Amino acid sequence: MRDKVLVTRKLPGEAVEGLKKEFEVVLNPHDRDLSYEEMSRMAVGCSGVLSMLSNRIDKGFIEKNPGLKVISNYAVGYNNIDLETASRHGIVVTNTPGVLTETTADLAWALIMACARRIVEADRFMRQGGFTGWAPELFPGEDVYGKTLGIVGMGRIGAAVARRSAGFSMKVTYCSRTPKPELEKELGAQAVELDTLMAGADFVSIHTPLAPETRHLIDRRRIALMKPTAFLINTARGPVVDEAALVEALSRRRIAGAGFDVYEHEPDLHPGLAELPNTVLLPHIGSGSKATRVRMAQMAADNLTAVLAGEAPPNPVKLPE
Ligand code: DGY
Repeated sequence: MRDKVLVTRKLPGEAVEGLKKEFEVVLNPHDRDLSYEEMSRMAVGCSGVLSMLSNRIDKGFIEKNPGLKVISNYAVGYNNIDLETASRHGIVVTNTPGVLTETTADLAWALIMACARRIVEADRFMRQGGFTGWAPELFPGEDVYGKTLGIVGMGRIGAAVARRSAGFSMKVTYCSRTPKPELEKELGAQAVELDTLMAGADFVSIHTPLAPETRHLIDRRRIALMKPTAFLINTARGPVVDEAALVEALSRRRIAGAGFDVYEHEPDLHPGLAELPNTVLLPHIGSGSKATRVRMAQMAADNLTAVLAGEAPPNPVKLPE
C-alpha cells in the first residue's frame, strides 16, 4: 500500500506532481492556510506531512498521528514544530536551508534601502498627487553608503546580507553564537556584544532563528540603546523583537524607522504599527522569488520522499537528544 502524505498548501512548480507518483497525496484544497483542526483531520493515517511555517505542529498534533515518520517543513525556520516531541516519537524533521539564502538577503536589502530613502512614503505621496515640483527638502532620507550595518545572527542569511554591504563601503559589526573569522577577514566584519552592536549600528538587521533564548532578544532596553537615526530590519522571525516596545519607540521617534517582513503575532500586526509612517511592512515574503519558492518545494518534496524510502534526507534538522 502506498504511503499517504499531507501537503498543507498548494505549492509552486512540479513538486506535488512528483509526490503523486510515489504517494497518496492529500492536498489542501483551499487557497489559504488550513486551520489546526482541518490539518489534524486531514493528517489522519499519513506517514508524512509537508508543512508550512504557519502550521503549528505541536505535541497534540504529533501524538494524534502515530504513523508519522517525517515532517518536511517548507522553510528554513522550524520554530513551528515541536522538535522534542518529534524526536521522542522517532519522527524525522527536515527544512529547506541554503536555497533561500540569497533571495532573503536581497529582501533585507530592499528593506534597508526602502527605509533609508523613504521609498514607500514617497511612492504614496506621488500616487496621491503630492508632487508639485522638485524641492531641496522633499523626503530627506539617510545615507546607506559608508554607514554601519549590525548583523544579529551571522548564519548563512546574515553573511549574505553582510556581503552585499561591500558595495556600499559599510562597516559591519556582528553578534553571533560562533565567531566568523573568515567573514572578519573578507569584510573586515567586527564581532561585538549585542548591546554594543545595537548602540553603534545605523542599520540593525536580524537574522537569528527563533528559539527560547532569542524570543524578545531585541527588547525595550535594547531598542533604547539604538541611535535616533538608526533603523531596525527584521526578516527572521517576529517574536525575536518585542513589537509593543518597537511601536512605542517608533511612535516617539526614539529610532528612525523599521523595515519588517515578519511579525510577533503573524499575520496580525501590533496595534499602531501599520499607522506609523516610518515603517516599511511586508507580508513575510523573504524567500519569495518565483525561482526560490519552486526550488524550496522540490527540496521539501525530496526530503519527504527520502525519509519514506528509508533513506537519509538531504536536509535533516538536528533533533534534541
Ligand atoms: C523561512 O524559510 O524560514 C522563511 O521565513 C520563509 O520565507
